[in-house]
Amino acid sequence: MKKVGFLGCGKIGKALAKHLIESKEGEITFVQDPGFVNDLDLSCPVLSQADESLLAQTDLVIECATANVLKANLELILKHCDLMLFSVTTFSEKETEEKIRTLCKEYGHKVYIPHGAILGIDGIFDGHKIWNEVHITTTKSPKSLGRTDTERTLVYDGPTRAVCSLYPRNVNVHACIALAGIGFDKTHSTIISDPAVSTNAHLITLKGDGMDITLDISSYANGAVTGAYTPHSACGSLDRVLAAEGALRFV
Ligand SMILES: NC(=O)c1ccc[n+]([C@@H]2O[C@H](COP(=O)([O-])OP(=O)(O)OC[C@H]3O[C@@H](n4cnc5c(N)ncnc54)[C@H](O)[C@@H]3O)[C@@H](O)[C@H]2O)c1
Repeated sequence: MKKVGFLGCGKIGKALAKHLIESKEGEITFVQDPGFVNDLDLSCPVLSQADESLLAQTDLVIECATANVLKANLELILKHCDLMLFSVTTFSEKETEEKIRTLCKEYGHKVYIPHGAILGIDGIFDGHKIWNEVHITTTKSPKSLGRTDTERTLVYDGPTRAVCSLYPRNVNVHACIALAGIGFDKTHSTIISDPAVSTNAHLITLKGDGMDITLDISSYANGAVTGAYTPHSACGSLDRVLAAEGALRFV
């Protein structure tokens, strides 16, 4: 049975921990989260800082905290474990992307990037050589974006790389698509804040020679950063990771 640790265990982390307990596909070795409320009755150690000896006994760490928390823990995790990460905006910093790739090579571990809030990331990755244009328009409530707009407002329109540092918790979908597709500088992001919506909605268009693909995804969120679909998609991704062998992959 694979040994699994959590870095951050809120909405997504708890859905995954519950799924692991029910499926009996993995044993939870630790939860690293200073704000963790143990309403799942977990018997593993709960930490506020990384513990290298526990990492050394763990096969896979699941990050569902923030990009900054992930960055601070990257080296120690990849020294000992594979990593499935939800804060994909971490990859928007060139030096951090380089560091992740170097650490994977150095220690022989893998990074799994779940499809998270959207569908079709495998197909976007498959076509990465043939897309001429990739555009994502996200519409969320001001609360979800940490804003106070009282009317529909265009918040950002430009390359994906820059929006990742402006809204690191809200544009993981953009980062994931950029990483899988044509990169952070060529992918175009539009962010709209709309007080009339209670969903997180993503309209994704991909164009190549003779190809025009649209994905239109909306998930109830009620002001949260994470919509209703993501915890379910996360459990599916974890099942595939625990069953998988091989190199870096989108799951
Ligand atoms: N890839 C995607 O499609 C996608 C979709 C939704 C959310 N996300 C991202 O996934 C992450 C988790 O989302 P969530 O809805 O579970 O968030 P959440 O706020 O419910 O949980 C985050 C957890 O991180 C913990 N945390 C805070 N500081 C920490 C620290 N220093 N060390 C360890 N843990 C710490 C918090 O206490 C909290 O329990 C967020 O970064 C979010 O932006 C990604």
